[in-house]
Amino acid sequence: MRIDIITVLPELLRSPFDHSIMKRAQEKGLLEVHIHNLRDYSKEKSKQVDDYQFGGGAGMVIKIQPIADCIDDLKSQRNYDEVIYMTPDGELLNQPLCNRMSLYENLIVLCGHYKGIDERLREHYITKEISIGDYVLSGGELAAAVLVDSLGRLLPGVLNDESSALTDSFQDNLLAPPVYTRPSEYNGWKVPDILLSGHAAKIEEWRYSQAVKRTKERRPDLLEE
Ligand code: ADE
Repeated sequence: MRIDIITVLPELLRSPFDHSIMKRAQEKGLLEVHIHNLRDYSKEKSKQVDDYQFGGGAGMVIKIQPIADCIDDLKSQRNYDEVIYMTPDGELLNQPLCNRMSLYENLIVLCGHYKGIDERLREHYITKEISIGDYVLSGGELAAAVLVDSLGRLLPGVLNDESSALTDSFQDNLLAPPVYTRPSEYNGWKVPDILLSGHAAKIEEWRYSQAVKRTKERRPDLLEE
């Protein structure tokens, strides 16, 4: 998968993909992340990419020209499955959406800033709008990092244990069951006996029942879906 991220703050996106699983995904050639500085596409001497909003009001709006030029440039080089705009009024990101999008080959992810982008870009360039939650961030960069991480780890071959993404919380609409490691007793706090029994089928059954219990307690809405 190739992901092109367009941003006015490229520095914010340098580190999230340079560690751990995202780093390995790129080293294995399974994920490519390209970061584009929107200012490089500005035709103005000052490299400004935003302007006051028509009708008045506080807050700047990102102009059409630099974004349109950047997207046109990328599209002239390859086909993209989606041109995504990260925005709090987009579709809420969840695991089923991540699963579906992890099958794509090429994505453009546009990070908003200030008051947002000129609405005409949303009408004519953006094919999908995604929110990572019902709260407002100061820009789309952290949201884009969340999106890329959630997709990258689903690409076949990225996780060492291939089955491990399947047992995450939210796969099958269930939260993940509790996990334990050594020692089997600490301060008198014991690991459930069943996990030490070596009985694989019974352990699986226990994990499933714990996942259901936890989901009922914490996120009953997932069971209703
Ligand atoms: N930009 C600002 N807030 C955001 C959010 N919650 N999700 C996606 N992009 C955003």
